[in-house]
Amino acid sequence: MQLHSKLPNVGTTIFTVMSKLASDTGAINLGQGFPDFPMDAELVELVAKAMRDGFNQYAPMPGYPPLMKTLADKIESLYKHAVNPETEITITAGGTYAIYSALSTILEPGDEVILFEPAYDSYIPNVWMNGAIPVPISLEYPSYRIDWEKVREAKTAKTKAIILNSPHNPTGAVLSADDIEELRRFVFDTNIFIVSDEVYEHLILDGKTHYSILRYPDLFERSFVCFSLGKVFHCTGWKLGYCVAPEALTKEYRKFHQFNAFSCFTPTQVALATFLKEPSHYLSLPNFMQEKRDYFQQLMSATRFTALPTYGSYFQIYSYKDISEESDAVFAKELVAKCGVAAIPVSAFYQSGKDDKVLRFCFAKKKETISSAVARLAKI
Ligand SMILES: Cc1ncc(COP(=O)(O)O)c(C=O)c1O
Repeated sequence: MQLHSKLPNVGTTIFTVMSKLASDTGAINLGQGFPDFPMDAELVELVAKAMRDGFNQYAPMPGYPPLMKTLADKIESLYKHAVNPETEITITAGGTYAIYSALSTILEPGDEVILFEPAYDSYIPNVWMNGAIPVPISLEYPSYRIDWEKVREAKTAKTKAIILNSPHNPTGAVLSADDIEELRRFVFDTNIFIVSDEVYEHLILDGKTHYSILRYPDLFERSFVCFSLGKVFHCTGWKLGYCVAPEALTKEYRKFHQFNAFSCFTPTQVALATFLKEPSHYLSLPNFMQEKRDYFQQLMSATRFTALPTYGSYFQIYSYKDISEESDAVFAKELVAKCGVAAIPVSAFYQSGKDDKVLRFCFAKKKETISSAVARLAKI
């Protein structure tokens, strides 16, 4: 049989490679972005209850209505923006699926999509899968801010969409009010769509504001805003998320979703519909994550790694320029061999393999995991 690959240049992701290396060698895995502490016991109990109560059949295609209503209420209270839960929210099988569905709804072959590198690894393959062309722009090292001049230069008649991600993986950078103004000017009078990846919405540090696209009606009218419930509630394995988009866009989006997943796991939707009614369950998340970040940073200050700022997500980038001149991919492997700690080389987030000699560490870990890992890192 002959199969024409749609993704000829895609191999196994660096996350799988580093996680396998960590598990083969017994290294502490600060590479892949997942918490190693238990999720909220109340939420677990609510899922078990939903199953006992018989919520085990297909949920409605767009999602379980009480969850969509709770999400709309949460959006209104956080971002002062009223969305219609019935026509503007779709529950998805995670954030990645939400983004892929948005891109598949928008893109036609030959379209160009502006995105920023270092970039979450699904964006570019998702653009390719739709026959479209990624136009990557490097964020400025070491602030990882957007250079809007470069964005303007990249705009062509074929530009169909721009993908934003704040808080940003892998750098922890966040969009500012100025970025929103630049974005406004950039899309004004165009047919450019915005796909806004906000999966780390509640993991925002140092009292920063989350500049969600949902705050801006003029930007929202051209946007698909994507979230992950698994990411923020410490249960990445749930793969549950949602996409918020204006009614006309959601209508097309659901056509795609209906013949893909059709609907998502019911018991977790039922559980979250109740759990999210209590605002403290999400309003407490920034402090919770900040404690972890501060603990990690404080211990890491005794090592030879140099911290770059992080304002969101659960990642922190460290430079190893005072330790080695090796490429980040080689150094990350050495770190596993010499220290027994896995991290992700940031060059893996660039098509070009741009190497600023920095590694990404995930600090969404138990205190014991963080302290053992840093004790090992202090030896190099
Ligand atoms: C920036 C970003 N977007 C999306 C996702 C995926 O979210 P989910 O696990 O809900 O698909 C991740 C997960 O690492 C991420 O870092």
